[in-house]
Amino acid sequence: MTDMLVKLYDLPPLDACLENITSKGCTVRRAMAYEKTAVLDWLGSIAPHWVDECAAGFSHAPHKCFIATENGAVVGFAVYDVVIKNMFGPTLVDDRMRGKGLGTGLMLSCMHSMRNDGYGYAIIGGVGPKEYYAKTVGAVEIAGSTPGVYIDRLNQKKS
Ligand SMILES: CC(C)(COP(=O)(O)OP(=O)(O)OC[C@H]1O[C@@H](n2cnc3c(N)ncnc32)[C@H](O)[C@@H]1OP(=O)(O)O)[C@@H](O)C(=O)NCCC(=O)NCCS
Repeated sequence: MTDMLVKLYDLPPLDACLENITSKGCTVRRAMAYEKTAVLDWLGSIAPHWVDECAAGFSHAPHKCFIATENGAVVGFAVYDVVIKNMFGPTLVDDRMRGKGLGTGLMLSCMHSMRNDGYGYAIIGGVGPKEYYAKTVGAVEIAGSTPGVYIDRLNQKKS
């Protein structure tokens, strides 16, 4: 696991990516306050170790949590600014929904939002699929970033 750096001033456009997702009957959008329990319940059933970080995305206004939906159900999430400021992640898309552009839509939504917040670069924390991030947003590895901010962690039972 290593951190990666992304140039927010050189991002792929968001609109075409979101239009492609809509054409497949899905959406990617910012989560609403009244959806917090549904999002955390969904995530808790597949990746309980990320529930705390996802919940932190709901503690800002506007929320720093984006979700992917299909037929009114959540099928993916991504958060930013929750572990430390300027960091993207974690993120996850349901197994059965991968490869449809949802992960990229979630990531670009977060990163365009980060750029609008005034950041010049984003850190992708504790990667993960390095080739995917290099290909989609030109991310480069940050040397010596293991374990990075994930240091002195409590031993927890969550898998
Ligand atoms: C990473 C993840 C969010 C991508 O979601 P997705 O909806 O499948 O992403 P997209 O459909 O937008 O993009 C899929 C592309 O990424 C590539 N990709 C996905 N995971 C990859 C990996 N581990 N290594 C290399 N490429 C990967 C796919 O091959 C595909 O490429 P293509 O567009 O050329 O076909 C999803 O695979 C996931 O939930 N993984 C498990 C959790 C995880 O690793 N989170 C990231 C922690 S930093």
